[in-house]
Amino acid sequence: MSSNKIKFVWENKIFTIKNLDPNETILNYVRLNLKKTGTKEGCAEGGCGACTIVLGEIENNKIIYKAINSCISFLPSLEGKQLILVEDLIADNGSLHVVQDAMIKHHGSQCGFCTPGFVMSLFAMYKNFNSYNKEKIQDSISGNLCRCTGYRPIIDAAKSLNSSSKIDKFYKNRKKNY
Ligand code: FES
Ligand code: FES
Repeated sequence: MSSNKIKFVWENKIFTIKNLDPNETILNYVRLNLKKTGTKEGCAEGGCGACTIVLGEIENNKIIYKAINSCISFLPSLEGKQLILVEDLIADNGSLHVVQDAMIKHHGSQCGFCTPGFVMSLFAMYKNFNSYNKEKIQDSISGNLCRCTGYRPIIDAAKSLNSSSKIDKFYKNRKKNY
């Protein structure tokens, strides 16, 4: 990476940012430049998870999905990664991702402000593992705060993923031996 230019993948295309400001947060870039406002700003200091996005990264020949707080992550962190936003989870035919569907079915969203962040944290868990026990679920959403639901419906939604299909629009990106 040269000091003022990065490349990353978004929506299956390679994006280049030239002359970037290394102090610009990914959250600001996503909302102001990419015009994707599903990712929310809550505390803006890494404490609430409303701004959670996922970065895909190759590790040991497979893609690992990492949920991060975009409000405290800066543009250089995107270098060489796949950027995944809550808007990107929708299938090409317009249907919701199984994680989004589970949140609806289990009433995991009330005011909705925290919901995109929870969805992205659960999406990373869903992609990285094949089964989801209580510890894994709690660990995955440990950085997300919700003032409305009391968490139980969100945890129920996460548990229901154990019986969901593992095939989503990102499935084709895996390595053949994954
Ligand atoms: S806005 Fe609260 S963690 Fe980023
Ligand atoms: S649904 Fe309102 S903060 Fe979570």
